[in-house]
Amino acid sequence: MLITKIYRPDEIKEAAKELRLGELIAFPTETVYGLGADATNEQAVKRVYLAKGRPSDNPLIVTVSSKEMVEKYTGALSKEAQKLMATFWPGSLTIVLPIKPGALSKAVTGGLETAAFRMPKNKTTLALIKEANVPLVGPSANSSGKPSPTTAQHVFHDLEGRIRGIVDDGPTTVGVESTIIDLSTKHPTILRPGLVTAEELESVLQTEVISDKHKVGQKETPKAPGMKYKHYAPSAQVVIVSPLEWEKALAFANANKQAVAIMALEKDLANVSTEIPTFSLGENITSASQRLFAGLRHFDDQLRPEIILCAGFAEEGLGAAYMNRLKKAAGETFFSDLKI
Ligand code: TXA
Ligand code: MG
Repeated sequence: MLITKIYRPDEIKEAAKELRLGELIAFPTETVYGLGADATNEQAVKRVYLAKGRPSDNPLIVTVSSKEMVEKYTGALSKEAQKLMATFWPGSLTIVLPIKPGALSKAVTGGLETAAFRMPKNKTTLALIKEANVPLVGPSANSSGKPSPTTAQHVFHDLEGRIRGIVDDGPTTVGVESTIIDLSTKHPTILRPGLVTAEELESVLQTEVISDKHKVGQKETPKAPGMKYKHYAPSAQVVIVSPLEWEKALAFANANKQAVAIMALEKDLANVSTEIPTFSLGENITSASQRLFAGLRHFDDQLRPEIILCAGFAEEGLGAAYMNRLKKAAGETFFSDLKI
C-alpha cells in the first residue's frame, strides 16, 4: 500500500515533482478538494478513476493556472469565454468549451468533443499547477458516491493508501463544487449550480442562461455524465426539513431520540434536546454550504443514526447549489413525504 503523504503549502515543489512523475496528489480549492493528476498523462488520469472508484464515462475537469493553458487545447477563445474568465477566474466557475480534436485524451473527456476548464481560487494550488507546468485533472477527491471532501482529513479518510499525497491548506471556504456552464451549445447552459449564479452569468454574458434541471435516467446518455450517478450519500437516510416544518420535525425527533440526528442553523438547534446528536450549519446559507458535506460525513464516522433531519433553504442564490446537493444526498426525500 502507498503511504499517503500530507504536504504543507510550502512543500508544493515536492508535490509538483510527484505529479510530473504521474502520481496522484489531492489539492485544495475554494470549493472542495480535488484529486490531481497530470491531464496530459493518460495512465495517470486512468488511475484517478481507479482511486475514486468512479465510472469511467464520467469526464473530468481540467484544472488550469492561466487562460493560456486553456487555449493550448481549445485554440482561440470565444468572446463569451473570455468575458467569463475575466470576471470569474480564479473562482468557482467551470466552463465547458469545444476542444481541438484529440487535444486531450479520452480518459479526460470521456470521448466528448468538449472539456470542462476551471481555474480555482487557491494560491497554493495555482502555484502547484505552475510548478508542475501541466494542467491537472481535478475531480472531487472523495470516493465515488461519498460527499465531496472539504478538508484534507476527509480526503485522507477516503483515499489513504491509494494516492501519493494531499496538499493540506485547511478547510475550503465555499464548500459546494463550482458552477458548471456549458458554452459549447447554442445557448449557454448551467449544468451544475454553484456559488456563481445564473443571474451573475446573465449579467456578464448579456444573454439568457438556461438552467439544465433535466434529470437523467439510468439508461439515458447524460449531457453531463455525472448527473446520473448517486452522490453525496451518507449511510443514514437524509430528510430535508423546510423552514415551516421545523416544529413538527422537532417533535418527531423528540419521539425518536435513538434514531435521529439533526443538521440545522445554530438558532434552530437552541431548542433541541441534548440527547439528540446535532451538527451546526452556522448562521446562514453561506456557512451552511461550507459545512454541508462535513455534516453528512460527521454522522457516518460517529453515531450512525438512521435518519438525519437537515435544514432546507430557499432555492435562490447560493441556496440553489446547496439544495441541489442536499436533494441528491436525500434522494429528494422531504419531511412532508414521511408517512408518520
Ligand atoms: O469545484 C469543483 O468543480 C471541484 C473542484 C475539485 O475543482 N471539482 C469537481 O469535479 O466537482 P467533479 O469531477 O467531481 O465534477 C465535474 C463534473 C462532472 O459531473 C462531469 O460529468 C462534468 O463536470 N463534466 C466534465 N467534463 C464535462 C464536459 N466536457 N461536458 C459536460 N460536463 C462535464
Ligand atoms: Mg464530485
